[in-house]
Amino acid sequence: MIRRYDFAPLDGITKAVYRRVWARRFGGADRLFIPYFSPTREHIVTKRERVELAPENQAFAPQATTEAAPELVPQVMTNTARELLWAAEVTRDLGYTELNLNLGCPSGTITAKTKGAGLLARTDTLQAMLDGACDKLCLPLSVKARIGYESPDEFPALLDLFNRYPLKTLILHVRVRKDKYSGPLYYDAFADALRESRNPVEYNGDLRTVAEVDAFAARFPGADAVMIGRGGIADPALFRKLKGGAPASRDELRAFTAELFDEYTRFYDGQVGHAAQRMREVWFYLIHLFDDNRRLNKAMRRFRTTAEYHAAEDAIFAELPLRTDSTGDLI
Ligand SMILES: Cc1cc2nc3c(=O)[nH]c(=O)nc-3n(C[C@H](O)[C@H](O)[C@H](O)COP(=O)(O)O)c2cc1C
Repeated sequence: MIRRYDFAPLDGITKAVYRRVWARRFGGADRLFIPYFSPTREHIVTKRERVELAPENQAFAPQATTEAAPELVPQVMTNTARELLWAAEVTRDLGYTELNLNLGCPSGTITAKTKGAGLLARTDTLQAMLDGACDKLCLPLSVKARIGYESPDEFPALLDLFNRYPLKTLILHVRVRKDKYSGPLYYDAFADALRESRNPVEYNGDLRTVAEVDAFAARFPGADAVMIGRGGIADPALFRKLKGGAPASRDELRAFTAELFDEYTRFYDGQVGHAAQRMREVWFYLIHLFDDNRRLNKAMRRFRTTAEYHAAEDAIFAELPLRTDSTGDLI
């Protein structure tokens, strides 16, 4: 039975502005993951990272204080024990109670630096980092990983490695690095993890609707937590529905996108063009909550001016039938 629903980190989308507006208007997730920050060797926290992690910019206090307030979990991308230990201190000092390590990012520029999913192909470096940090960390560590770099055959050895360390949670996006965010999901690897992991495991990958989560839960009765990313952007009411709440109404969505645009505009010191760019990323997924979206999806993907953005959005709300579930492509 699924007892916990976590909102995945989506760099460029679920940053502080989105998290605040979404939590105010929809909510329903038990935990929100903050997209990764990358410590430098000099241990400088950039202004941008400070804004992203500052408790006053969050939807809720970093530590859940009431049942309704989700916990916030910061994520770090690094490959050394020294930086991992430092990141734990920085986030602990800001009030966070868990640190998540990114072992899943498939981007070539990241993996070339032996970070993110790159560490899955360099288990010597991964092991050295965890050996050097795990018994000294001031916060519980969770890991968000893929099940292999090239092939799912790598998973048994990776699971053996993770089993050597006390992790708060082992979150698995059940794809390999080369498939990025599409391509096969290796459910067998998740079944192996449920059976053989010494740490609690959590599933991640392609859940978009309540029916899909129910089917997943029926297939894996031992699973008690899922993390959802793109499905939560495509249908901002998904987490609420998973808790028995109502689907999003047209008015609610309209107010949500308007507030997002206003908050992005404020965040970018009045630069509406920047705000519209952020909205393009949101609509890339949100459009799938509307039927017959081909023409306006194209308009939303290709607009050049802020006026064109507003025109496309107005047309979507005026013309397209709203679905109760998003079942469109996630990529
Ligand atoms: C645009 C984008 C940004 C992402 N940023 C992060 C990130 O900062 N950290 C991370 O661990 N995963 C990141 N991911 C991966 C997601 O957290 C998640 O694992 C992936 O989207 C699969 O889950 P889903 O099918 O529910 O979306 C990102 C994915 C996308 C598409």
